Amino acid sequence: MTDDTGDDRPLPDGGTDVAPDEVALDPWGSSTVEDYRKLFEEFGIESFDDVIGEVPAPHYLMRRGVIFGHRDYRPVVEAMRNDEPFAALSGFMPTGDPHIGHRLVFDELVWHQQQGGDVYGLIADLEAHAARGLGWDEIDEHAESYLLSLLALGFDPEDGEIYRQSANREVQDLAFELGTKANFSELGAIYDFDGETEVSYMQSVVTQMADILYPQAGDPKPTVIPVGPDQDPHMRLARDLAGRMRYFGVTEAYASFELEDDERHLVARAYEALADEDGDRDVRCAEAADWLAEESPDEPALWDAVEKLRAGGKEPLRPRVRVLDRNATDEAFEALVEAVDGEKRVYEGHVDAFEMDREAAAEMAREIEVDHGGYGFLPPSSIYHRFMTGLTGGKMSSSVPASHISLLDDPEDGRDKVMAATTGGRETAEKQRELGGEPDDCPVYELYAYLLAEADDDLAAEVYEECATGERLCGGCKEQAAGLMAEFLERHQEDREEARELLADLDVDLDVDRR
Ligand code: TRP
Ligand code: SF4
Repeated sequence: MTDDTGDDRPLPDGGTDVAPDEVALDPWGSSTVEDYRKLFEEFGIESFDDVIGEVPAPHYLMRRGVIFGHRDYRPVVEAMRNDEPFAALSGFMPTGDPHIGHRLVFDELVWHQQQGGDVYGLIADLEAHAARGLGWDEIDEHAESYLLSLLALGFDPEDGEIYRQSANREVQDLAFELGTKANFSELGAIYDFDGETEVSYMQSVVTQMADILYPQAGDPKPTVIPVGPDQDPHMRLARDLAGRMRYFGVTEAYASFELEDDERHLVARAYEALADEDGDRDVRCAEAADWLAEESPDEPALWDAVEKLRAGGKEPLRPRVRVLDRNATDEAFEALVEAVDGEKRVYEGHVDAFEMDREAAAEMAREIEVDHGGYGFLPPSSIYHRFMTGLTGGKMSSSVPASHISLLDDPEDGRDKVMAATTGGRETAEKQRELGGEPDDCPVYELYAYLLAEADDDLAAEVYEECATGERLCGGCKEQAAGLMAEFLERHQEDREEARELLADLDVDLDVDRR
């Protein structure tokens, strides 16, 4: 559905009314996200609305819906609230000058640091070299520029860590290790790699996996990766790999045999129905099989469960927590068996605990793993921000100078770019007074909401209201925005100059001798 001007018109929620056949999330593509809601349905990204209520003093990007989605952010929020350790990490490909879109991520990192997190900012130089073909001189120059802006925006390098992928030996070792758990077919399926894909390109993927898990090396903790939704394929892979590295898996079981997740809840239902309140009466597998077979025979998993239960025959059903040996060393497995409290039964490859709850068992398994040389990774979390619309409409792109404002732009150029931006205004002032403007369809309003109003919610709301009611006209509105933009650039560039000394003192080599 396209209107007669051929424009994709943003909806109030920031999506557009163009319905693409599918949403592609491609870390190296130029995909714009047409409809953020689809990301919830198709990829299982959760809406940020669901967690924002739990976040202590949420950042304005959260309050204004710019950060719109997350994966498993709750453990990070919990840690934040309880003053427990947590981390945040994001990375920047040094392919050009940092622009106002990158400022969102810089701010997200700085905010998590202010909330007490261990925060990491990295330069994805291996990725820029392998996936974008940039030479090392150019990479060095841009790397410096990203870091100056990050520091200028308040990142505290004493408290956090800045690194470049190519110079971090620990990250590279971890990448190698993670590479033992992923194969070519899998990367091919996720990233559309094929026989022509360069080996270094693939290596940059495992390097990113290592970046994401690096904050947990030596000390597992909730970790959030603030990124755009194009990075979600990386997040899903990193979450999988984190699990594949684990020594132990923890599940619930009812008898000696294994159940799939959908079978397990059916067996649970049979057990609940047949057991008496104190659990004194033995419920035999065969009995549960008969009960299930009569229940709702068209559930597909049901007959598999029935078959397993029939094979169990007279074995009584008893709920238990099962710890499976996945990659554990013999000593680690023995230590685990030893550590299980209360009644237990040891099998080849797993141990069943009858008196522990699942959470306690998982915690114990993680501790034993870490004590025996494993990583004990928690699956990393992510939060996703919307992409800024380009000032000329369409996508904001580093390769189209008029579409974005670089953090290095001369303040006067920044002013001019805002004045030249497309708006959501009407053709004439008269019409605008009558109908109001369309702030939801206006890159200038976005500038206020994402950046210029900063933490001042009243200013953002005022611009929106005045625009929508026709009180505000585009000329004056842009002038105000242009002034704020010029001020911001001027201040930011001064702060960058001040950050030079700070950067020079850090142990980051920005002049690498490589061919
Ligand atoms: N792939 C990211 C990009 O294209 C950069 C990156 C590398 C990154 N490692 C990361 C982002 C770890 C987040 C976390 O911009
Ligand atoms: Fe955009 Fe401002 Fe014009 Fe409204 S008044 S459409 S916010 S430029």
